[in-house]
Amino acid sequence: MGTSTNRKKTILITGANGLVGQKLVECGITNEQWDIIATGRGESRFKSRKEDFTYEPMDITGIEEVSRVFAKYTPDYVIHSASMTDVDRCEINRDLCNEQNIHATENIVAACEKHGSHLIFISTDFVFDGKKGPYTEDDKPNPVNYYGWTKYETEKSIQSRKLAWTIIRTNLVYGIGHDLTRSNIVLWVKHGLEVGKEMSLVDDQVRTPTLAEDLAAGCLLVVSKNATGIFNISGKDLLTPYDMAILTADYFGLDKEKITRTDSSHFNQVAKRPIKTGLIIEKAQKILDFQPKSFAEGIAIVSKQFNLAKENL
Ligand SMILES: NC(=O)c1ccc[n+]([C@@H]2O[C@H](COP(=O)([O-])OP(=O)(O)OC[C@H]3O[C@@H](n4cnc5c(N)ncnc54)[C@H](OP(=O)(O)O)[C@@H]3O)[C@@H](O)[C@H]2O)c1
Repeated sequence: MGTSTNRKKTILITGANGLVGQKLVECGITNEQWDIIATGRGESRFKSRKEDFTYEPMDITGIEEVSRVFAKYTPDYVIHSASMTDVDRCEINRDLCNEQNIHATENIVAACEKHGSHLIFISTDFVFDGKKGPYTEDDKPNPVNYYGWTKYETEKSIQSRKLAWTIIRTNLVYGIGHDLTRSNIVLWVKHGLEVGKEMSLVDDQVRTPTLAEDLAAGCLLVVSKNATGIFNISGKDLLTPYDMAILTADYFGLDKEKITRTDSSHFNQVAKRPIKTGLIIEKAQKILDFQPKSFAEGIAIVSKQFNLAKENL
């Protein structure tokens, strides 16, 4: 469909009940030039500002459901955030992961092609093998686990199709949201230390942890600038999970003596993790004017949100 500058742009978000999806909606509704269509599996989990956007239940594995929702809204942009994101579950249940991450994305791609929608796909640092991170957009992917493989296959498929596309690679997203199905490093460490747990974290893996709000802002900068191609959108600090745990404990005044260092060889996870990833964000800084927070600033924001949530109880 046409994208006249005088009318509002419609942005459809998949997986809107997830952490990133919630932040995309919260950030998107602050721009009056956009109509936000939030879609997710099952009913909406949003607790506030429900009058500022439209929610439609949409399971992306259902081709008819996807076709119906796209025909109703003919979105200018689609931010495809829905995914099976539990890396170990993806390794064990490959058929389901294949269905959710590859086949279901095909439903979204086909609908974008049909309606001329610009597709913004959220991918991952796990497309890389972790031998030489941090990575630029031009480095060659070589996934070491099934989740990463499904994301890379999808990236390649999108690039081969006739539609406007943007691939956003991100890593280790943290933040708080409503009724999330998954935890993340800041929440997990904070909660673990609060209940007095001993915690072991690896100090041989590196990542550039990403505040969920920063990722949402980066995706929406892609919309504002109508940018296409691959972009790394992540935090700017290169840290190990051990570093992140210590910084989290320090910020919340929790007992960091309970945190011990370990390395990947002592850590038994079903799916192999790439060792050194992290993303170089110079392209996004230059082209999109993307300005992420430091990890310390990010934890301060999460902490404020915790306090606000407590006040509203
Ligand atoms: N979190 C990270 O560290 C990280 C790192 C790199 C890339 N990413 C990517 O960022 C995106 C957002 O991740 P996130 O952190 O927001 O994860 P999340 O909280 O797990 O959100 C993913 C959302 O996708 C939904 N979903 C799964 N299958 C669906 C289906 N068939 N139909 C409709 N919705 C479906 C989930 O629904 P339910 O809530 O019902 O399960 C969930 O709400 C994903 O594409 C992920 O791969 C995340």
